[in-house]
Amino acid sequence: MELFESLKAQIKGQNKTIVFPEAKDGRILGAVARLKADGLLNPILVGNPEEVKAAARERGLSLENIEILDPNNYDRFDEMVESFVERRAGKATVEQAESLLTNVNYFGTMLIHLGLADGMVSGAIHSTGDTIRPALQIIKTKPGAKAVSGAFLMVRSRDQEKYIFADCAVNIDPDAPTLASIAIDSAETAASFGIEPKVAMLSFSTKGSAKHAFVDKVAEATAIAKEAAPELDIDGELQFDAAYDAVVASQKAPESKVAGNANVFVFPDIQSGNIGYKIAQRLGGFEAIGPILQGLNKPVFDLSRGCNEEDVYKLAIVTAIQAVNGN
Ligand SMILES: CC(C)(COP(=O)(O)OP(=O)(O)OC[C@H]1O[C@@H](n2cnc3c(N)ncnc32)[C@H](O)[C@@H]1OP(=O)(O)O)[C@@H](O)C(=O)NCCC(=O)NCCS
Repeated sequence: MELFESLKAQIKGQNKTIVFPEAKDGRILGAVARLKADGLLNPILVGNPEEVKAAARERGLSLENIEILDPNNYDRFDEMVESFVERRAGKATVEQAESLLTNVNYFGTMLIHLGLADGMVSGAIHSTGDTIRPALQIIKTKPGAKAVSGAFLMVRSRDQEKYIFADCAVNIDPDAPTLASIAIDSAETAASFGIEPKVAMLSFSTKGSAKHAFVDKVAEATAIAKEAAPELDIDGELQFDAAYDAVVASQKAPESKVAGNANVFVFPDIQSGNIGYKIAQRLGGFEAIGPILQGLNKPVFDLSRGCNEEDVYKLAIVTAIQAVNGN
């Protein structure tokens, strides 16, 4: 079955509630109306109801039975402020909380924290930092995860190939324990998209072929990840060709179960990760779905500002899948 058809089947009937803080944006409204009409999830829009409804009317869209919550006129605002101050434990005063929670991303993230929503999709008009900072501060990393990281699901319809690339979006230069944690979270993300994970810890060296502190970091991360998750197939350090190509693997890493079969590629830093996924996207013809934030207690999706309505529709489905799978 085509990937998104299978994902839709998995979320249908689960009735996950997803918050959309950028409610006046036409791409968001169009996608939300379709998601609701298709019965895929229960959307909450954030904004001034009159303005949001007017924006929908202009586009001929129906927002019937879709809840719209206004941060400037919310009957549980005081409770939200109190909960935020408690969560920030000394890092925000009541006055600061009152001001921050009129920001739609902080407000939307707090709806998740209060248990009123299962996930959030934002970033069509906000930067990555402004979209994910509230999540880092409020939702926080889940037990066992050292950091929140950004994975891409790379899909190419012509040959049905599917891979996970991480971290391409959040941690600039993760240390070895963080890189190990990213590898384990990436395996979990892969599994939620029906990929049986074989995790390659990428470097410019294969199994000691080169010596450098960069290589040592990846080798150390591999050892930490193997110890922490012995049930997973994780190996490194591997060059991309040894990880991907069975012939090269048989020469460079003949003992490895992962080399030649890898489908989860963990990059040593954000430069290689970000460059790597864009090369696969632009030269390799892969669709890059993400960044899928992993390691958070609840899912938050950071859209690209260049996204279109179809992207929002699909990425909300991905967010609901993360909510269903608890990752
Ligand atoms: C994600 C990012 C925006 C966070 O920036 P920031 O707000 O300046 O981060 P801070 O260091 O002030 O941290 C804010 C909070 O988030 C937490 N945090 C930061 N990075 C985190 C991570 N990767 N995982 C979990 N928590 C994190 C901090 O611990 C801090 O929590 P606290 O306030 O409770 O102590 C920043 O790491 C970044 O810009 N990353 C690169 C993003 C990017 O440009 N990507 C490129 C293309 S998509």
